[in-house]
Amino acid sequence: MDRLPIDREVQHLTLSEQTRSRIDREVAKYPADQKQSAVIASLTIVQREQGWISPAAERAVADYLGMPAIAVHEVVTFYNMFNTQPVGRFKLNVCTNLPCALSGGTSALKHLCDRLGVAPGETTADGLFTVQETECLGACGDAPAMLVNDQRLCSFMGPERLDSLIEQLRDEAAKGESK
Ligand code: FES
Repeated sequence: MDRLPIDREVQHLTLSEQTRSRIDREVAKYPADQKQSAVIASLTIVQREQGWISPAAERAVADYLGMPAIAVHEVVTFYNMFNTQPVGRFKLNVCTNLPCALSGGTSALKHLCDRLGVAPGETTADGLFTVQETECLGACGDAPAMLVNDQRLCSFMGPERLDSLIEQLRDEAAKGESK
């Protein structure tokens, strides 16, 4: 992964007033000495604004919440809903854990990658799609399962449904519809 180790110098980032105010609202939900409980909510706010969590953003959140940078780094790298690099407009996470793998998950991933001309983890040249492998989405009975932009669960994603999903997302992008 192209990422600076956490103990190396990273570019400084100042959280905007708006971001700080949003984070403050999350922090206020916890006892004053437990600001770090708002770390996931804070990172979610930053990602919503910036599209991903850069090493500088990690450090800025850590400083703001009074946490060790490594602790924030561990959260960011544990949950794959956090983007550790810029992603396309549509992040397509295909489950390849065993139940899905046994029911076409691996071929779904390959089909998607072939259709879009990318390898897992890559983004299409037009910036529209990023394809990633993901762990179990809790929808094993719907295998192969996938998730669009961490929110939209898609079931039984065989080749035809994958093709139609790509077309539908292209249409949404062309019409300027929100994610
Ligand atoms: S293994 Fe794919 S959703 Fe559970």
